[in-house]
Formats: sequence, C-alpha cells, structure tokens
Amino acid sequence: MKSQKIITLAVMSVIVAIFIATACKTPQAILDKSGAQLWGENCARCHNAPSPATYSDDQWHIIMGHMKIKAGLTDLEVKKIATFLKSAN
Ligand code: HEC
Repeated sequence: MKSQKIITLAVMSVIVAIFIATACKTPQAILDKSGAQLWGENCARCHNAPSPATYSDDQWHIIMGHMKIKAGLTDLEVKKIATFLKSAN
C-alpha cells in the first residue's frame, strides 16, 4: 500500500508545518491590543497604574526594564506600553 504511506506522510508533514508555524508566533490577542490597553491591564495589578505624565521618556525606559521582569511581560508588550507612556511627554 504505497499510496497510503504517501498520504499518511503528507498529512503528517502538514501537521508538523502548522505546528512549527504557530509555535513561535505572538498570540493574536496581544498583537491586537494597544499600548494603553496593555498598560491598563498589566500596570495596575500590583500598584496604581502610573500616569504617562509622571515620568520622562528616559525614566520610563528604565522603569519598563524593571517592570518587564516584575510583570513578566514580553518584548512586544513592553514596546507597546513604553510607546504609550512616552507619547504623553
Ligand atoms: C508583579 C507586580 C508588578 C507589576 C505587574 C508592575 N509593577 Fe511596577 N512596581 C512593582 C513593585 C513591587 C514596585 C516597587 C519598587 C520596586 O521594587 O522597583 C513597583 C514600582 C513601580 C514604579 C515606581 C518607580 C520604580 O521603578 O520603583 C513605577 C513607575 C512602576 N512600578 C510602573 C509600572 C508599570 C508601568 C507597569 C506595567 C508595565 C508595572 N509597574 C507593573 C510591582 C509591579
């Protein structure tokens, strides 16, 4: 049954390809969210979410480095939140 083996192999290749393609992708839910939204959801978990105007761009850069670790944020989330925070200054 040679053709059956080929079909099985083809199906398995497609499954593996889909798995590889989706494994490292950022979840769509994060891609769709704005920096302001991510700020509201993440930065008020442990303390009041600090207003963007509270710190300068340089200070936000350093603070986001600290809070990335504390909040367990991804690079993309940090980038979006930092852009939002810095836009107010
Ligand atoms: C897991 C808890 C947690 C989350 C989530 C969190 N923080 Fe914090 N944050 C802290 C703690 C604890 C401190 C106290 C000071 C410290 O340890 O740096 C702090 C302090 C701060 C300060 C005071 C300045 C400083 O560096 O000490 C700012 C500003 C701040 N956080 C901003 C944010 C922003 C913006 C976010 C969202 C991206 C965030 N935090 C998310 C725990 C958290």
